[in-house]
Order: sequence, then structure tokens, then C-alpha cells
Amino acid sequence: MASTRPQPAWLANSVLYQIYPQTFADGNGDGIGDLAGATEKLDHLAWLGVDAVWFSPLFASPFADAGYDVADYLSVAPRYGTNEDLAAFVDAARSRGIRVLLDLVAGHTSDQHPWFREWVDDPADGRYIWNERVGTPAGIWCPVPGRRGGYYQLNFYPCQPALNFGYARQDPGQPWRDPVDAEGPRANRQALRDVMAHWFDLGISGFRVDMAASLVKDDPGHVETARLWAEMREWLDREHPDRALLSEWGDPAVAVPAGFHADFFLHFGRPGLRSLWHTGVGTYDPSWTDTDRYFFDPEGSGGVDTFLREWRRATDAIGVGGGHVALPTSNHDYARLVTGPRTAPMARAAFAFVATWPSLPTIYYGDEIGMRYVEGLPDREGSLLQTTQDRTGSRTPMQWEPGPGAGFSTAPEADFYLPLDPSPERPDVATQRADEGSLLHLVRRLLALRHATPALQPEGSLEVLTEDYPFVYVRGGTHLVVVNPRREPAAATLPSGWDGARGLEVEGVRLDGGRAEASGFSYGIFERP
Ligand code: GLC
Ligand code: CA
Repeated sequence: MASTRPQPAWLANSVLYQIYPQTFADGNGDGIGDLAGATEKLDHLAWLGVDAVWFSPLFASPFADAGYDVADYLSVAPRYGTNEDLAAFVDAARSRGIRVLLDLVAGHTSDQHPWFREWVDDPADGRYIWNERVGTPAGIWCPVPGRRGGYYQLNFYPCQPALNFGYARQDPGQPWRDPVDAEGPRANRQALRDVMAHWFDLGISGFRVDMAASLVKDDPGHVETARLWAEMREWLDREHPDRALLSEWGDPAVAVPAGFHADFFLHFGRPGLRSLWHTGVGTYDPSWTDTDRYFFDPEGSGGVDTFLREWRRATDAIGVGGGHVALPTSNHDYARLVTGPRTAPMARAAFAFVATWPSLPTIYYGDEIGMRYVEGLPDREGSLLQTTQDRTGSRTPMQWEPGPGAGFSTAPEADFYLPLDPSPERPDVATQRADEGSLLHLVRRLLALRHATPALQPEGSLEVLTEDYPFVYVRGGTHLVVVNPRREPAAATLPSGWDGARGLEVEGVRLDGGRAEASGFSYGIFERP
């Protein structure tokens, strides 16, 4: 099945980089990251080989959920700077060949957003979901703090009322279920287009869409939610064809055919991503029943069977040229690549895999130097979701330099948004830039290799040779990749023709006598002779 939807040419070969704005770089010395600080780091991102950055929300907000509670979609939060500062960042990025994506929180606003403040007093307004019945059980319903009374539906935290995109199914006993084409839902769809168009005008190349699957309620199979995004995509293809939408959905088989240019594999929902990374430390959902094995485990508990099953399911549904699966090293909701038993040296094999897989590699800031997930930090702006899901440890300040403050900010460390990783061995950019053997240099070389080698890009074919340790696959018929992320050595028999292949980026792997011999924590990328 080939898609007929146009694709922005820049996306397929892009490496994405997620900036968590509050902890990336502080330009004005108040202890919180900002656009001025991020602008100063653009040379570094260009040096690394990043094609597009995605900022977690930097809009005006009371920050009860670290900015995912938006109070004004059209204004940069003062703590990050001004809209002019964002425009300056976009220009400075463009001059280095880097695109900028923002985060569209589509399913809900802050309870401080003027839309909500007006809605609570105006029973004729349909922008949020209203349940006027007294005595409705709590859970997803919260009392309306205004004249209209009754309850509103929350989407995440209680401070995040769900925007009304209607219900897929009506029920006379539940009169708050608007159809998807009722006035409120239509106004909200238009509002999303207005927000996107506003930022496209400023030069933004697209959005990561927060909780994209959550819009239409009681929607079996997400049929109506998919229809909504298909409508958005038609609009985009018509009016803004060079822009891209990447969803936080976690099911590319549904999200991409619906209309997204790419969807992220995520830790929650389907098991593809956690079957690679999940160590059980820091962010854990007790409902996950499949996390006793994971492939990038130093003890070697996993295989790549679960990941490959999910990958094939996604790519079969997407079809050739239909869009992409984005593969994050981690994100602001999930424990970092370097977490628990997986140390920074072990992250090298992970990057060799991410850089050679036919997905959109997405690097979470700091993973490229092996920053750690830090346990036991205080909650900050809703970072602690539940005791088992502590997002805080993935949100610590970026480590730019050795020494106090780590080059993140000139503020006293006590004023930092979150504490720095206290480890005396914490990695930093400056030290790694001075060391060609560092993880940072490896990541840079891997990205350069990917950019220079069409076989390693999403268009290059994929042939999987093994599903165990070592994981071995061929890209584009010309490049062999061997990844062994466990402590124990591993070996695999190869088809003929690979002996004597040229090693392009190799650590601990030998091709000899028709076999790949991989020592513990090794990887190799080879080109056919
Ligand atoms: C997404 C975000 C997360 C946020 C939530 C509510 O999952 O990634 O950080 O708390 O949506 O907006
Ligand atoms: Ca600042």
C-alpha cells in the first residue's frame, strides 16, 4: 500500500533532538533554561549533526504540569523569553540548517486558559466537556469553579480540562456527549489550526502533538480521532505542505495512516519501545506485564522479537512512503537511556542501533553524553506522577561543563529548576568534546555516517539476520550492523560475502570465517567489500 499523501522532503533523513526548555541552557542566570540560552547552544547542535529540534511546551502557563498546561498558545512564557526570542532562535537555527518543532498540547488546556475561564461562567459555551449532574463520581470529573456549576472532564491532571472534541458514541442518558461535529468541537478544531498557522508564520516546521489519541472521547479503535487528524492533515497538505506533525500516540499503525507524518514508539501502550530500553528503574507502570525482558539489558534478558513484531506491525500499516516511526532514546516522561544497571559505556551500542535503524532517531537532550536518570529528587511542577512514575530524574539540568553549575546557569545551584546530577563522575559536553573516544564523539560520527549513507536512512531496505544477541541486520543491501548490548559475548553466522567487509564504526566486533564475533557491549557497522 503506497500513500498518496505528500511528504515534506526534509523529514525522512532528519535526526530529531528534544529540548526540555527549563533545563537545557539558562541564558539570563535565573536558574531556569530559556531561549537565549538555547540559542547559544545551536552551534553545538549543528556540530552534533541534529536536523530538527523539538521544544517541549514553552508557552505561557501556570506550570502545574511543567508547561503541558497551556494558558496561552500564542505567547512564549516570560521565563523562556519572548516571541521575538523564539523568532530569533528559529532564524539562528535555520542559518545552521536546523528546523524547529514546537509542542502542540491538543487535548486540553490549563484551567487558567481564558477559554476555560470564560466557559466556567457561560453555559452556552461548548469548548469543554460539561456534565451538569450533581453526584457524578469523581475520577475524570472535577467540579466546575464557576457560575455554570456541574463538572468538567479532566484529560491528565485536574488542572488540565479536556477540550471538547465530542464523543464517538452518543447516549441519551449522558447528554454531555456532543457529536464530533457539534459547535464546540468544531470551534476547537479551528482553534488548533489557528494555533498551528500562527507558529508556521513564524517559521516553525511542525509540531509534536501531545496526547494526540485523546481527543474524541469514547472512541473505539480511535476511528473518530483518526478522522479528525486526517482532516488536519488535508488542511496541512493544502496550506502548509512543508510542515510535519509527529504524534505522541504510541501506535504508528493507527496514527500515521490517520494523518501524522510520524508517530513515536513510546514506553506506554504498545510494548515495542520498552522491550528495548525498560530497566524497571524510575518510571514503571505496574500494569505492564511484559517488562521482565528487555534487549538493552547488560544481563541480556531480552531479544528483539517483541520490538520487531511491533516494528513490522507499524511499517506494514504505514506502507512504503507513507510516513515514519520515530524512535526516542528517552523523553521527559520516561527514564533516560542511562538508567539503573545500564551505564554510559553501554549506551554506545544503543546509539549504534538507533542511528542505523530505518526510523526517525530522536535524541533526548543529554542522552548523547550519557546523562543519568537521577533517583530521589523532589517533585517539580508535577514531575512526580506516581511513586512508580517519577519523571523528575529525566529532567535535570544539562551538563555542559565540568565543575559547579555544570555550565547550565550562572545562578547559585540552589536556584536551579532541579538539582544537577550529584555524581562526581557526571559527564559533560566540554570534557567529551575534547575526547575523540567519548560517547558524544561517537554519536556525532554515527549521525554523520547516517547522513552520508542513503542505505542507513529510512529509505534503505532492511533485512534482519538474527533476533537474538547479537542483533544483526543489513541495510540497503550494502551495510551490515551488529549490536551486542549485553555483558556476555555473542556470535552469529552470516550469509556469504561479509568476510573482509570494511568497518565504518566498530567496537568489539570481528567478521571472520562467515561469522560475526561480538564481545560484550559491542557494535559494528560494516560496508560490503
Ligand atoms: C504528555 C506529556 C506529558 C504531560 C501529559 C499531559 O504525555 O508528554 O509530559 O504531562 O501529556 O499533557
Ligand atoms: Ca533563564
